[in-house]
Parts: sequence; C-alpha cells; structure tokens
Amino acid sequence: MLTMRKSHRFWVLTVVLICVIIYASFVTRNHLEPPPSPHQPGRRDKVIILNNGSTTIRLDSSIYEDFFPQLQRYQCRELVSQEDLCQQDLSPKGPPLLLLAIKSHPASHSRRAVLRRTWARPRETGGFQLRHVFLMATDPHVKHSNLAWQESKAIGDILMWDFVESHHNLSLKERCFLQWMQRNCQQAAFIFKGDDDLFVNIEALTEYLHQTPNVSEFIHGNIQYRSAVVRKGKYAVSSAFYPLWVYPNFASGGGFIMPQSTIPELYNASLWMPVFPLDDVYLGLLALAAGLQYHHDGHFRVWGPPKDELEVYRDSVVVHGISMERIEQVWNGIQKPDQTGSPGH
Ligand SMILES: *[C@@H]1O[C@H](CO)[C@@H](O)[C@H](O)[C@H]1NC(C)=O
Ligand SMILES: *[C@@H]1O[C@H](CO)[C@@H](O)[C@H](O)[C@H]1NC(C)=O
Ligand SMILES: *[C@@H]1O[C@H](CO)[C@@H](O)[C@H](O)[C@H]1NC(C)=O
Ligand SMILES: *[C@@H]1O[C@H](CO)[C@@H](O)[C@H](O)[C@H]1NC(C)=O
Repeated sequence: MLTMRKSHRFWVLTVVLICVIIYASFVTRNHLEPPPSPHQPGRRDKVIILNNGSTTIRLDSSIYEDFFPQLQRYQCRELVSQEDLCQQDLSPKGPPLLLLAIKSHPASHSRRAVLRRTWARPRETGGFQLRHVFLMATDPHVKHSNLAWQESKAIGDILMWDFVESHHNLSLKERCFLQWMQRNCQQAAFIFKGDDDLFVNIEALTEYLHQTPNVSEFIHGNIQYRSAVVRKGKYAVSSAFYPLWVYPNFASGGGFIMPQSTIPELYNASLWMPVFPLDDVYLGLLALAAGLQYHHDGHFRVWGPPKDELEVYRDSVVVHGISMERIEQVWNGIQKPDQTGSPGH
C-alpha cells in the first residue's frame, strides 16, 4: 500500500509539474513578445506585431481568417460611385472642405431627410465649406435597398457598397470609406465621421477645429484609453479570438474627427492589417499601425446628453443617441437668428 501511495504521489507530482511547465510557457509566450522585427507589409503576413513604444499587440492573421473570413476577404465594390462628390459645387478659392461622413442604414430614410435639413445641410459656415455623405451597405429586405439606391441616384449624397449591413460588417464601411477617401476626396481638410443618431453642433465643431493647437496632427473625439475588452453582449469578442484584456486606444465611433493627413496612412494600414469585427477598435488598430496620436475632448458626448436641455447641446460638439424629432427641435432651438434668416432679436 505504501509503495502504491508513493508511486501515486509521484505521478500526481509529475502531472502537476508538467501542467506548470505548460502553463508557464503559455504565459511567457503571451507576455514576452518576440523582438520587434522589421515588418514587411503584405496580406500573406501571418503575424503582425504593433508597437507604439509602451504597448505591444500581436495580431495573428490566420485567427482573423478563421473567425471572420468575410471581413478579411471582402473587396470594396460601390453600387453607386460618387467620384465627384468632393469636387461638385465646391468653390476652389473658398474655405477648406469639412466632410461629414455619416454611417446610415438603408431603412433610415427619414433620419437622412432630417439631417439634410438640419446640421448636415451643405453650406459655408465657420470658415469651412460643409458637405456630407451617407455611408451605406445593402439590406436583405430588397425593398429598403431599392429605395436607398433610388435615393442615392436622386440626391447623390450616398455611398453604397454591396456588402450586407450588420454589426460586424460596419468595419467594412470603415475600410471601404478609407479607400474611397484616398481615391476621391483628397481635398477635404477634415473628415467628421459619425452615426446618424447624432446631434452635431457645427458651430462648436468648427470652433474646435480653429482653436485646437496642432489640430491637423491628431485624431479627435472621445478617446477610449485602455478600454476593457467585453466578453458578453453586443460588443463581445471571444478570448480565443482576442486574448488581451484591453484594447489599444481608440476614438469612440459615435463621432470623431480625422484630419486629411491621416487618411493616406490609415488607408495604407488597411491594406495589410486584418479587419477587427468592431469598427472603432478596428480604426484604433489602424491608427496604432500608422503611429497616429489622439486628442481627447469631453465635448464629444458619445453617451448621450447628461441633461436633455438646450444648454447641453450648445456646449457640445457631438451628442449621441438623439431622436429625429429632438434633432430638429435642438437645431431650431440653438440657431442664431441671423443663421436661420428669421427676424432679429
Ligand atoms: C457581411 O457582408 C458579407 C458580404 O456581403 C456577407 O456575406 C455577410 O453575410 C455579412 N455579414 C453579416 C453578419 O450579415
Ligand atoms: C505644436 O507642434 C509644434 C511642433 O511639433 C510643437 O513645438 C508645439 O509645442 C505644439 N503645440 C502644442 C500646443 O501642442
Ligand atoms: C500606446 O498604447 C497604449 C495602449 O493603448 C497607450 O496606453 C499608450 O498611451 C500608447 N502610447 C503612445 C506613445 O501612443
Ligand atoms: C505605406 O506603407 C509602406 C510600408 O510601411 C510604405 O513603404 C509606404 O511608403 C506607405 N505609403 C504611404 C502612402 O504612406
């Protein structure tokens, strides 16, 4: 019995030891990154190492391929190409172009109508020529897609790609929009990118652009620093897919600003980086790869208004999650009399 026990103990100890060795090698492999090697861009790269000086992120392309093959393989195809959008009706000697790029769903016809007559209305204001474009994919309900396609043809402010709208596919909007910008809109000085349920205070936005030092060197918005990876719910990613606990810094997707100088660099990164299934994290990874810096500002209220009062909207660049009716009310409420053309004081 005694020898039996001893040999039993021996085996238990051996198994424990082996487990410890395996675990230790696993942990060190995750924490001690391989030495940064000169990176050769190209789709065939298996492992990409990003290093911004303080953080190292290792991306294995084959994992992205396994989990989200359609995101990696999709080639951007525009159903309606709006190549002239940034040239049309723009006075070459006028102030710089500020492009508002708004993510929208084919079914959100009335939202687009509200934005066209409120904050997104094309005009010259605050030292910029303002133009907008809606970024759209297709809807399995053919009726919605057809209506959106007709709207696009008729009004000319919609970019529509042939992939299907979905939460994860929003990253494709990001990637395809960068390609479109690089090819068709190098004249935009700044690009504001956001959702269609935003209120954007254009006056505050243009003031922000004029007053922020070195504004063209940063991506601006509500910056998420060391945001924790969520494992449950709408924004969940599995630990098998993304094992780290935090994301690289990223600008909250509700509404943010990119200066023109960042577009070629982000586009370039999009050519060799795998596509992450959450659009704002994806852009964060591209920005990290391109070595871009952020500028955080609390006036980008991406979690809705703290109080639903006009004062809050006056003091914000962006307020997220606003109904169509409220957008219209707020817009009328904070207009200066001389801008609406209504009689003075
Ligand atoms: C994303 O778009 C691709 C291409 O249209 C499509 O095959 C795929 O089903 C879409 N994903 C979802 C979740 O709808
Ligand atoms: C703006 O950039 C210049 C040159 O990089 C730098 O010297 C200066 O400190 C920056 N200003 C601010 C306010 O960051
Ligand atoms: C590098 O990324 C980490 C994590 O996102 C961030 O905390 C840090 O500020 C970044 N450093 C630089 C120099 O950008
Ligand atoms: C794109 O990236 C590659 C490799 O990093 C670099 O050689 C090339 O100059 C970049 N092009 C642009 C337009 O930034």
